[in-house]
Amino acid sequence: MEVLRTVAELREWSRQERNDGGNTIGLVPTMGALHAGHASLIRAAVNSVGYVAVSIFVNPTQFGPNEDFSRYPRTFDADCALAKAEGADAVFAPAVEELYPAGAATFVDVEGLSSQLDGKSRPGHFRGVATVVSKLMIAAEPDRAFFGQKDAAQVAVLRRMVADLRIATEIVVCPIVREADGLALSSRNVYLSADERAQALTLSSAIRSAEAFFASGERNAARFIEAAHTAFAAQPEIRVDYIALVDWATLEPVELAAPGSLFAVAGWVGATRLIDNTILE
Ligand code: PAJ
Repeated sequence: MEVLRTVAELREWSRQERNDGGNTIGLVPTMGALHAGHASLIRAAVNSVGYVAVSIFVNPTQFGPNEDFSRYPRTFDADCALAKAEGADAVFAPAVEELYPAGAATFVDVEGLSSQLDGKSRPGHFRGVATVVSKLMIAAEPDRAFFGQKDAAQVAVLRRMVADLRIATEIVVCPIVREADGLALSSRNVYLSADERAQALTLSSAIRSAEAFFASGERNAARFIEAAHTAFAAQPEIRVDYIALVDWATLEPVELAAPGSLFAVAGWVGATRLIDNTILE
């Protein structure tokens, strides 16, 4: 497995692998601290394209001034071992100045969508995500890029971006990987104390309840939201950011749940912000 540090190296790697027998290229963008959720994306990529690059880059522009950019877990050697074990062909791990050269003044702003859900409490977050993912796509020229449903609003923003910029990359969305007790895997779970880890299960149980509610025939969005608020109210240590039932493409609230609607929750457990969601079926 190769470790690439510059955009030029990544682009050359991609073009060479593609030209060697018309192979397809897959990209798995990550911020590192890789866990089984990331591993599932790498596996999906390996099973779907000829050559796979995993990017590992803690992207400064998607963190707010009071967020965890400086203390975000960085575990590069273990990440490379995991990527290699899952069958990745290359890791792209650039320095910040490589993706944001001195004087960088160009940003990608997906209007509207970027101020919904996580974008409401994290202004500028999706602008940073769209900017870095467009840079990665321009550099790697992948046929397919793999993202987790875990970050469902991110998926909506990036689908819009790829459609608007006519980027020739297909977005593939992979299911949420969970711990045995239901907690969605996240690089930020390492911040949780044992007590907070137990409280964090409120998110996944709210998601399961919403799925059961939908299966029982409930369609009134207000009832889904109210039920989740009641569940969170029993955990006063969790501060709810949002509980929402939205159209997955527009992230606009819906009044009636329908197959394909996105039910999503976010909250702070202590100082750690966690998210979870389900696509109602
Ligand atoms: P990061 O949080 O490292 O996540 C990288 C990818 O892994 C994302 O597509 C995310 O949805 C997926 N992922 C995380 N936890 C998952 C889980 N439990 N199950 C399935 N997939 C999971 O998302 C980002 O990085 C960044 O915003 C990025 C897109 C790399 C841009 O900087």
